[in-house]
Amino acid sequence: MTTVIAARDSVAPAPWEPRIVVFACNWCSYAGADTAGVSRIQHQPNFRMIRVMCSGRIQPGFVFRAFEKGADGVLVSGCHFGDCHYIFGNERAVEQFEKTMRVVKLLGIDEGRLRLEWISAAEGVRFAQVIDEFTDQIRALGPSPLMVVDREVGADPEADPEVDREKEMLRCSSS
Ligand code: FES
Repeated sequence: MTTVIAARDSVAPAPWEPRIVVFACNWCSYAGADTAGVSRIQHQPNFRMIRVMCSGRIQPGFVFRAFEKGADGVLVSGCHFGDCHYIFGNERAVEQFEKTMRVVKLLGIDEGRLRLEWISAAEGVRFAQVIDEFTDQIRALGPSPLMVVDREVGADPEADPEVDREKEMLRCSSS
């Protein structure tokens, strides 16, 4: 058992890869991602998608929470103007996005880490292009300044204190 623990502990940390959160409206952008998927259009995999009913629902707090939880970039996406299923939802999204961007700049986060895009359900190719472009842009910017300290000391955001306790007990019982 001691050997297994030693081998697990000696695994080198994985190199940094961008972590992107995509907020997508249910009716257009989420469906656009689905179109990319069913059409088997290749794109970079560095994102997690959060579906909301309308881009107008995406408040500044959602974006800050994503950055706080370790996102290196956040993409907000919704229907093109005139296509919003709630008529003015995407106009509200623009207002919310502008407010969010102002605070992002005040916090010293590079404005290139936040992006707003309109992607329709039919635009699978465009979805893939936006994801690839944004991922490259975030890769060029490097890790989020909010998370650099944690990553430098090797903190694992997925770390489970229960597993650490278990490892400690195994160490004690094998010595
Ligand atoms: S339903 Fe897509 S932006 Fe409103």
